[in-house]
Amino acid sequence: MSKEQSIQVKQYEEMYSIQPVKGQSLLASAFEQEVPLDFKCQKGNCTRCRVELLNGNDLVNNPTPKEHEKLEEELEQGYRLACQTVPLK
Ligand code: FES
Repeated sequence: MSKEQSIQVKQYEEMYSIQPVKGQSLLASAFEQEVPLDFKCQKGNCTRCRVELLNGNDLVNNPTPKEHEKLEEELEQGYRLACQTVPLK
């Protein structure tokens, strides 16, 4: 993946840019990169890390069972849990 390609997410009407790291959750990458995403459990339970994924859908894993359980139809609207979303490339 080229270094320039970042993933844009929106949380609480704020846009953030995260440099994806293969195999590491978007939340963990955001944390390392000092992107101030809200989060709590890091396990897919609290939904505090819910973000709208604005691009990069083709770079990340499919929604996890936790995300299906917590987000339901919001998944189709482009929402993900940042702690469950992992770049695969
Ligand atoms: S931090 Fe709780 S669901 Fe992601």
